[in-house]
This record gives sequence, C-alpha cells and structure tokens, in this order.
Amino acid sequence: MNDEGVDLKRRRFLTASTSVVGAVGAGAATLMMINYMTISEKDKAQGAPIEVDISKLPPGKLLVVEWRNKPVWIMKRTPDVIKAIEAVDDDKLRDPNSEVAEQQPDYAKNKYRSKTKDMMVVIGLCTHLGCSPREEQAGGDLGADWPGGYLCACHGSTFDYAGRVYKHVPAPTNLVVPNHRFTDNNAKVIIGGVVKKEKKGAAS
Ligand code: FES
Repeated sequence: MNDEGVDLKRRRFLTASTSVVGAVGAGAATLMMINYMTISEKDKAQGAPIEVDISKLPPGKLLVVEWRNKPVWIMKRTPDVIKAIEAVDDDKLRDPNSEVAEQQPDYAKNKYRSKTKDMMVVIGLCTHLGCSPREEQAGGDLGADWPGGYLCACHGSTFDYAGRVYKHVPAPTNLVVPNHRFTDNNAKVIIGGVVKKEKKGAAS
C-alpha cells in the first residue's frame, strides 16, 4: 500500500464527521451519532489525515468516518468477534494472511489485518464494484456455517470480521486497510498520512 509521504508535523489534524451505525453481537442495535467538526471539502479532496477520538467507542460498535470520500470502519473487537475471525477456515479464504500487498500496510499483514487483534480499521467498500457491505451475524440467513462477518448484497461477496474475502465470490481481494496509527494511549486514531514503516504482521 502506498504511503502518501505526508509530513504530519506540518499538517493540522482534522476531525471527521462520524457516526456509530452498527453493532456486533446480539441485541446491540443502538444507533449512536457523535458530533464532531466536519472537515473542509478542500481537505477532504486532498486526502488530509483525520484524527478520530475513539476513547468512548464501545466494544463491538462500528464507527464510520469519512476519509477521502470513503467510509472507514473502526471497531474495537470483542472477544466474540476475535473468536469469529479465528473460526474461519483459511481454505475458505482467498488471501487469509493478507499477502496482496496493495490491500494493507505492512503492519496489517496478518490474519486480523490490524496492528492489534482487538482493533479494526478498514475501508468499508467492497473490492468488487465498491458497494457498501453490511454486517451479517452468525445464525442468520447465511447458514449454520457462517461465523459472522460482512455481506455485500450487490453481487454476494462475503468477508469475515477482519475484512478477508471468501473464495468463489466476485470480490477479488480483501477489504482495504488504510494507513493509520493510534495516539494518546489508544484514545485516538489518525487515518492517512502515515509514513513510518512498522513491523510486519505483528497483531497481538
Ligand atoms: S460490489 Fe460487492 S459483490 Fe459486487
């Protein structure tokens, strides 16, 4: 994945308009809106880094922020979500270990596709034709074998909770993980503009 070469010290960080729109796990359907200052159209067009406060994000809730006109999904994974990722048989996945280099930074080349397995940061657009997938929980319409994850209803592509694409669906690759880094003791995440190379595949 390309680094944009942005000098973070010279760039003012921006706070995105965000919403918590989904949930993982039974009974967690609360819709929450969090009010933040909206970044300018010019900054959006230039793809400036955005800083997102995740200090009050409840585990299992999906926070959606806009970056480069794309929805970025942020979630603090629960133990059940981590288990659902670990339950997926690698043979069912097209790129279980995130080996397609363009789809994520080096530090997300692992099965969780993240720096730490309890955090998800991915672009919520299907890699087929760009529709927005939705969560499909275990025990729903996708059958008894489905451990939970995301379905793109446009043409039926499926992804696990790490954004790994299943085989035999139209989407060719895993969901994209944008460059990002955590600050303030993990109370904030900065999306975009990360230039530092970090250790490969170190999800813990
Ligand atoms: S756009 Fe997602 S399956 Fe076609």
